[in-house]
Amino acid sequence: MADKDELESVCKRRGFVWPSSEIYGGEAGFYDYGHLGARIRDNWEHIWKDFFLDMDNYHMIYTPNILPYRVLKASGHVDQFSDVLVRCKKCGNSHRGDHVLEDITGESAEWMDKDEMASCMAEKGIRCPDCGGELDQPMDFNMMFGVDIGPTGERKGFLRPETAQGTYMNFHREFIALRRKLPMGLATIGSAFRNEISPRQGVYRLREFRQAELQIFFNPQSDDFDEHYESVKDRILPVLRANSEGIREMTMEEMDDLPKFYRYHMVRMYQFFADVMEIPRDKLRLRELSPEERAFYNRIHFDVEVDMESLGGWKELAGLHYRGDYDLTQHQKASGQKMSVSVEGGERIVPHVLELSFGEDRNIWALMDVGYRTGERDWISIPYPMAPYQAAVFPLVRKDGLLEKSRKVYEDLKRDMNAFWDKSGSIGKRYARQDEIGTPFCITVDYDTMEDDTVTLREISSTEQIRVPLSDLKQELRGYVKREKRFGTA
Ligand code: GAP
Repeated sequence: MADKDELESVCKRRGFVWPSSEIYGGEAGFYDYGHLGARIRDNWEHIWKDFFLDMDNYHMIYTPNILPYRVLKASGHVDQFSDVLVRCKKCGNSHRGDHVLEDITGESAEWMDKDEMASCMAEKGIRCPDCGGELDQPMDFNMMFGVDIGPTGERKGFLRPETAQGTYMNFHREFIALRRKLPMGLATIGSAFRNEISPRQGVYRLREFRQAELQIFFNPQSDDFDEHYESVKDRILPVLRANSEGIREMTMEEMDDLPKFYRYHMVRMYQFFADVMEIPRDKLRLRELSPEERAFYNRIHFDVEVDMESLGGWKELAGLHYRGDYDLTQHQKASGQKMSVSVEGGERIVPHVLELSFGEDRNIWALMDVGYRTGERDWISIPYPMAPYQAAVFPLVRKDGLLEKSRKVYEDLKRDMNAFWDKSGSIGKRYARQDEIGTPFCITVDYDTMEDDTVTLREISSTEQIRVPLSDLKQELRGYVKREKRFGTA
């Protein structure tokens, strides 16, 4: 448990994440990942892919960060991808209108347009949160970063505001290459860019951030996901429905106003957060967005939210977006290229899209927020496969062959997992250093090792220690890291 400043300072000191361009005073909304943060990020991406691409006909693709103007005009982002901006007439500072209102009323104002916001602000007599000055009329502010393509600056483009559009443009090509089968899943992981009006809350609101997005193209008339749904229909999830008060534990069957394909994927999203990210159940919920709150392309939208102490409560980490045929139809109209396909029975349809969209930076912050522990010892509980290192190896002392032996153990281990070798300081200090960065297992090579080829294996959460033969070490660790085996059991 930590407040934001404390956690940010820990993240900086230990090598996880910190504001970018800091030596020049920084620029709000940009963060760097240090040597440990980069490892968590790589692990998170790897595990995300393993989890969500575990279906036939689901694949990764990669597309550029810069998109031509006409792509984002067709997608609706040029005209509709905006937030409401309010400027102070006195100090000139800019604010997101909904944030100014939310800070005062404590209620979400994300759904308001600029006119609603103007009357609400006037009614409440709201003034600049920085200087108390008079605020100008709210106005729409498009959040995309414009770029000039080529030397003459004639061709306009944008840094992509979401990774999804590159995937939609490739739908038809991949459909043909993958032998014309639906459902087809195309995922991508990469940077997205939004010129946020007033980035705040650390990595929670960035101007450059990373998204992991899976677009599932399917025929809405088919029963492709019904069998999957049957296997999860009794699952109970903590859900906050739009326009209802409080979280309810609901079975999938109870939410029969939602299509089965949607409910099945709600469970998949939940499983990722609960089972893979190990977010405790009381800190996890699926919140439905009302029609006023939803993005212009969505028909059904639930966010996965995590209750994060460092950010003051429930925060969005990912979204499940039923985008219908909106995007493919828009690109078909604007490009003149066919996006429709033949399905069983010979009918031609424009496939529908279900999007599973994750903000990677927010997911990583959630790991830190939920996992950070202080007290008798400082440590971070990170799901073992996502931790920067899975194991650290120490020689008890640097003499009598222990140094060389421990180095051999380490060299062997690092072929299998991310391992670290630390030969300096007392064993207590070395344990403490690994606890602080979330390394789940520490291995000590001591005098007994030289006699009987066993080592001491210590687990981070319990600090329990067991003796393990070197010949079994890798296999034991594999079982513990994947949680297939409980620590210390035969
Ligand atoms: N393709 C759909 C899409 O982009 P979104 O809800 O705008 O939907 C998806 O964004 C996810 O990206 C969010 O759930 C969030 O985790 C992350 N995200 C959005 N804006 C962000 C920002 N400014 N900084 C960090 N992460 C952000």
